[in-house]
Amino acid sequence: MKKLNEILGTKYPFIQGGMANIATGEFAAACSNAGALGMIATGGWDGDRLRQEIRRAKELTDKPFGVNLMLMSPYADDIAQIILEEGVKVVTTGAGNPGKYIPAWKEKGIKVMPVVAAAVLAKRLDRYGVDAIIAEGTESGGHVGEMTTMALVPQVIDAVSVPVVAAGGIADGRQAAAAFALGACGIQVGTCLLASEECPIHPNYKQAVLKAKDSDTVVTGRSIGGPVRILKNKMARESAATGLDFSGGAAVSVPAFTNKATEAAQALAVLGYTSAEVAQALKGVDVETLSLEEIIRQCLKKMVK
Ligand SMILES: Cc1cc2nc3c(=O)[nH]c(=O)nc-3n(C[C@H](O)[C@H](O)[C@H](O)COP(=O)(O)O)c2cc1C
Repeated sequence: MKKLNEILGTKYPFIQGGMANIATGEFAAACSNAGALGMIATGGWDGDRLRQEIRRAKELTDKPFGVNLMLMSPYADDIAQIILEEGVKVVTTGAGNPGKYIPAWKEKGIKVMPVVAAAVLAKRLDRYGVDAIIAEGTESGGHVGEMTTMALVPQVIDAVSVPVVAAGGIADGRQAAAAFALGACGIQVGTCLLASEECPIHPNYKQAVLKAKDSDTVVTGRSIGGPVRILKNKMARESAATGLDFSGGAAVSVPAFTNKATEAAQALAVLGYTSAEVAQALKGVDVETLSLEEIIRQCLKKMVK
């Protein structure tokens, strides 16, 4: 079986997971330059913003990078079109079934890798001729399903004919090695990259990620059909206490955030007034903030040996 880096032409079998309002063109380019596949996340951006970010990434790297489309975005159709027009080489999709966009993307030779939380959707998407499936367990930060990475990855592998990438709860080499032992061809990582020097999040959010303990996250938004794993903060506790549910928060529920508004939302998240998406595996990096390259190497260290 081919490793993910052979499929994508990257140094490492490692995808930087799309992270709405965080993974800009600049951040994706930095991840690509560090040997991963950098992904520009589109979240609630409109098409013009995406076009600017793709062009910025092209200025900053000559390595492969891609675009992540959140299918719940009100701009999903425009974004799918801009992906075609701007010559993007790889697309990942989140939160739904990207079936209607796949034929046009495939016609342009774009590599398509949907993110799934259950084997049943993976099987359906395999029939559209996708290049790989990203199986994301509920340990991950952001929008989640119910299955754990450990249970999900082998079942997706058995259900499809294409390579499978494991995501969710991978933040060091032991977890990466486990993903490969389950049969994955590579890994997708989000949360632990939040701690990198290059990550453009508010410093308070970064510190909160570094300080968080294993049980400091919670899933909210289930009752409104948008479960999302966030830091256990004031808002999350009130949500649990009142039975009212919150979803999306800083990342996707507010369309077209400006950079300043995003920063403000992240600062508020740490104070507890909106959500900060993080995963259960927070402790993979054992020192304070590191460069992307060092974090990626730490994530793969035991595996690469
Ligand atoms: C802050 C944050 C925002 C995210 N936003 C998105 C997104 O916009 N689109 C998407 O497909 N996945 C999103 N994810 C999921 C990541 O792409 C990735 O699959 C996940 O972080 C992997 O699990 P980990 O957090 O345990 O590393 C997000 C994750 C985090 C932590």
